[in-house]
Amino acid sequence: TQPLTITKMKKMKQNGEPISMLTAYDYPSAKLAEEAGIDILLVGDSLGNVVLGYDTTIPVTLDDMVYHARAVARAARHTFIVADLPFMTYRLGKETTLRNAARLLQEGHAHAVKLEGGAEVADEVAALVKAGIPVMGHIGLTPQSVHQLGGYKVQGKLEKEAQRLIDDAKALEAAGAFSVVLELVTEPLAEAISSALSIPTIGIGAGRGCDGQVLVYHDILQYASPYYEKRFVKTYADLGTTIRGAIGAYVADVKSRAFPEQAHAFPMEQEALRRLYG
Ligand code: KIV
Ligand code: NA
Repeated sequence: TQPLTITKMKKMKQNGEPISMLTAYDYPSAKLAEEAGIDILLVGDSLGNVVLGYDTTIPVTLDDMVYHARAVARAARHTFIVADLPFMTYRLGKETTLRNAARLLQEGHAHAVKLEGGAEVADEVAALVKAGIPVMGHIGLTPQSVHQLGGYKVQGKLEKEAQRLIDDAKALEAAGAFSVVLELVTEPLAEAISSALSIPTIGIGAGRGCDGQVLVYHDILQYASPYYEKRFVKTYADLGTTIRGAIGAYVADVKSRAFPEQAHAFPMEQEALRRLYG
């Protein structure tokens, strides 16, 4: 099967068919998500939190993103892959933005890039699209601006903020973005944005009115995700408990010499053994 295309994503919105997106950061996560039938894989800069152990996404570099995107692309050959432009790899001028985004496609083998911001990044989005690089927008709670926003807070609760987010979404669509992520915005606002746009919205903590949903791999699997409990996450497995238990059993086996057993060991040829040791 061929990866989804941005044209088909728009059709899915028109047909009311929800788009499923999940983050992936390496070969096994991408392979399993593809096998499970995910529509879009996002190599998110959330890898800073869930894979690299940073407190925010701010320390994530473009090299980090390229490295992880490559591994994802090796595993998921039939899935549309979006890679995040990390902090300050755009906003320094169009030429830098184009050069950096190009690396995510050329070296990281992503199909599209995602960047955070609304009307203020519309020029950069337009430049990317003009250069043939599909762009997914990302508004609402934008983690790269966490210090400016004053924490991981729900956005669009008040009228003025909500109006600004609607304007931002429209600016991104006008600039040529093929989709927009709405992160931690109130449900009625996300619904209003989704119906105001012809491109699909992908929600995270944005309620039921979006055209698609995205969550973080480590969150839905409870895979040592460092976050506090998040209301908007639904967990589908408890891999953390499973993995910790399995490793604990391995440690206990080594200590008690229950592992390895004869079946795990390699015998020598009887004749060679006899000649060596008599
Ligand atoms: O980096 C990420 O995982 C994201 C999603 C939460 C949208 O940007
Ligand atoms: Na991100």
